[in-house]
Amino acid sequence: MNTDFLIIGSGIAGLTYALKVANDFPEKTITIITKTTSDETNTKYAQGGIAGVMNFNEDSFSKHIQDTFIAGDGLCNQSIIEIVVKEGVDRIKEIIQWGAQFDKDPFGDFKLGKEGGHSESRILHHKDVTGKEMERTLLEAIKNCSNIQLVNHCFVLDLITQHHTGYLVTKSTPDIECYGVYVLNLLTKKIEKILSKITLLATGGNGQVYRTTTNPSIATGDGVAMVYRAKGRIENMEFIQFHPTALYETSIKGHSFLITEAVRGDGGILRNHEGLPFMEKYDSRKDLAPRDIVARAIDNEMKINGNEYVFLDCRHMDIKNFKEHFPNIYNKCISIGIDVSKDMIPVAPAAHYSCGGIKTDEWGRTSIKNLYAAGECASTGLHGANRLASNSLLEAMVFAHRSYLDSASQINNIELKKNIPDWNAEGTTAPGEMILITQSLKELKLLMSDYVGIVRNKERLHRAMKRLDLLHEETETLYHKTEVSPQLCELRNMITVAYLIVKSAEFRKESRGLHFNTDFPGKDAILQNTIL
Ligand code: FAD
Ligand code: SIN
Repeated sequence: MNTDFLIIGSGIAGLTYALKVANDFPEKTITIITKTTSDETNTKYAQGGIAGVMNFNEDSFSKHIQDTFIAGDGLCNQSIIEIVVKEGVDRIKEIIQWGAQFDKDPFGDFKLGKEGGHSESRILHHKDVTGKEMERTLLEAIKNCSNIQLVNHCFVLDLITQHHTGYLVTKSTPDIECYGVYVLNLLTKKIEKILSKITLLATGGNGQVYRTTTNPSIATGDGVAMVYRAKGRIENMEFIQFHPTALYETSIKGHSFLITEAVRGDGGILRNHEGLPFMEKYDSRKDLAPRDIVARAIDNEMKINGNEYVFLDCRHMDIKNFKEHFPNIYNKCISIGIDVSKDMIPVAPAAHYSCGGIKTDEWGRTSIKNLYAAGECASTGLHGANRLASNSLLEAMVFAHRSYLDSASQINNIELKKNIPDWNAEGTTAPGEMILITQSLKELKLLMSDYVGIVRNKERLHRAMKRLDLLHEETETLYHKTEVSPQLCELRNMITVAYLIVKSAEFRKESRGLHFNTDFPGKDAILQNTIL
């Protein structure tokens, strides 16, 4: 297959970009690839909302900029923050025009929520299912674009670069170029090549590298791993954000259910097993301190008391308002026997968001020519060492737009590459035992959660790396002799992502934002990103 614009991922970043190029270039072909169904994305699960300055009486761009900067603990790129905060408002207005509904009060003004680290109420939301509403809007809108082809159940294996035409490509090769991708079509079980003039990676996050995560099963860091294999630049992978309040359940199927930070924004209070509020011991902003601080505080309380969770107390909150703002959470709690008006909700931190990723510039350009990245897989410089709540959907839309502007100015100068060889599956045979994959996956998740979680140290990172070496060696051997499958490729990608997280964490000899190392509890005077 040949296409002008190729988009990997159908979350907020991929779909926003697709809509824009489709409307601007009705004569060009746009192909969106997704590895399961089109709406199975991190985007669909977003709860709290999207941050944006909509009420200029109390709020201002400078306050949102300042809050983002403070949360990022010194590592944010100031000019990128300004771009996102200022341009973000137009992107929000755009998605509203496309049909997204955000909650309003009886006077027709947006009901603006508050979350950790925000000095003002500025979170637009659709009850507690904001992502679902945004995903629905975008999927509806692309149906009207006849030049977009959306291909589900198609697993992207690797980027095609000069490497596939016989050239030696290393990290120092100048002008590495992307010519398209190899994919495993899960319906035909065939490996195909898709050649493209421009490719956008919008592959989302990597929470599945950890044992407990709020991310659905698609979040395996495939885009980051592909770029790393293609010798592109990856940045700040040590900054994995753990959401403080995932619902604690003894048996979790796939991923943890989130209890949005907006619940604390509306008055929810964290309590330990004695029923005592504890956040005041850790930060003057108490339950609404930035996420890294709240997650570390909960981790500490759990370790002191030997418990696997703490409680979120909503019993004092107005139940009518609660049900109206958080119907999804209310119903989920009821389904497991928790009535939030009488019972406290057991919660524990879970891997939630990757602040680092594929390094991009202010136009979403990666270090590989004709390859852009937007959304959670990208590292734009916005989040620094810790993302401010509800800035992710905003960033994804702003950088999808900017990637569109830049790629629109390039598309007519790019030719499709010819003579790309087919995928080489020589010497591989049908997979024998799935246990070789599933057991390694369990080991990977365990070691990342136990050694590379909220609190780290030299010894834990060293142990993690040794175990990763073994998993890497075994999985590469299996990969080279086995026909590819999504399970095997995801395991391989997750091992690469885990390696990048551990390596970056080892490089950072300080504690900053989401990276807390007990051997280096202070901050280094020199501010720098970790680039691999
Ligand atoms: P995603 O929406 O994750 O989409 C990734 C896409 O890539 C999918 O279509 C997937 O199939 C595809 N893909 C991946 N790998 C491959 C491959 N190898 N081949 C083919 N396709 C592939 N952020 C906020 O700002 N506000 C919130 O309230 C909020 N709440 C959240 C709540 C939860 C529970 C979670 C998990 C996240 C939340 N976030 C929130 C974060 C935010 O939702 C995500 O960062 C954002 O939606 C990511 O969008 P994306 O377009 O980058 O990727
Ligand atoms: C939440 O609703 O608490 C998640 C918000 C986010 O991840 O930005």
